[in-house]
Amino acid sequence: MLTAEDKTNVKGLFGKIGGAIEDLGGEALDRLFLAYPQIQTYFPLIDLHQGSAQIKAHGKKVAAALVEACNHIDDIAGALSKLSDLHAQKLRVDPVNFKLLGHCFLVVVAAHHPSLLTPEVHASLDKFLCAVGNVLTAKYR
Ligand code: HEM
Repeated sequence: MLTAEDKTNVKGLFGKIGGAIEDLGGEALDRLFLAYPQIQTYFPLIDLHQGSAQIKAHGKKVAAALVEACNHIDDIAGALSKLSDLHAQKLRVDPVNFKLLGHCFLVVVAAHHPSLLTPEVHASLDKFLCAVGNVLTAKYR
């Protein structure tokens, strides 16, 4: 459950990162595929070499979805409803993978914005990414 403080922290962080979040999405995916190669099997149609144009393009989409969730932080389930159908029912992504991507995203934020990621913001971002993962896996049954 995100507290009012968590929501403020996440919105503040996203506001400060601004448009650079698009690149962070791609870097998080690079890390995901390198650190957890088994995940590559979900993406048979994408060139998975580090920094590839397709990873960058997909990272932008993932980042945009995170921004959308942040902009509708009181109704993440509603904001990501279509993506939830896609990941759980069509792509059938095993829920564990969302924790791995969330972790990679957090690491990338830490690497690029160490001063923004205070322990409090870290905790709030972690909770937010878990909330997004929960929404995207809710229909995985
Ligand atoms: C924070 C978590 C995630 C977010 C916000 C997210 C967001 C997205 C978005 C926006 C799309 C594009 C949908 C479209 O083009 O209409 C997408 C597609 C996809 N996602 Fe995710 N995703 C997340 C996690 C994951 C994870 C953990 C996996 C698998 C390990 C995954 C696998 C895929 C696949 C296979 C596609 C289709 C790619 C293609 O176009 O070939 N996603 N995701």
